[in-house]
Amino acid sequence: MNVICYATRGDLSLFITPTSLQVVVEDEGKGIPDVNLAMSEGYTTADEKIRELGFGAGMGLPNIKKNADEMILTSKFRQGTHLEFIIYLDRQESQLPFE
Ligand SMILES: Nc1ncnc2c1ncn2[C@@H]1O[C@H](COP(=O)(O)OP(=O)(O)OP(=O)(O)O)[C@@H](O)[C@H]1O
Ligand SMILES: [Mg+2]
Repeated sequence: MNVICYATRGDLSLFITPTSLQVVVEDEGKGIPDVNLAMSEGYTTADEKIRELGFGAGMGLPNIKKNADEMILTSKFRQGTHLEFIIYLDRQESQLPFE
């Protein structure tokens, strides 16, 4: 959704192995001027249109950080953003409660 809301175009790749899920999102667009600020809970630049669609709580990136085992976010201002994260399937903390 961040690519749709804040970038011009992007590629999303999903790599699946028996033990991990990895998502890599590479976009072109305005980029993120301050990645640390973008990672803080509640920070958003979402406009009215995005909020009307139910997005813009400023929780997307912090929640990825919380739920993924590894996360990398880098951005070049006015060029684009690179996000990748991995979820390991064989780790105890990644198991769903009912499993
Ligand atoms: N791919 C991107 N390109 C440019 N800016 C981005 C990108 N991803 C995030 N941002 C910036 O970082 C801010 C925080 O992103 P985050 O996903 O945490 O929250 P949000 O998208 O604003 O709201 P939510 O994800 O809760 O709907 C965004 O409001 C935007 O300013
Ligand atoms: Mg978001």
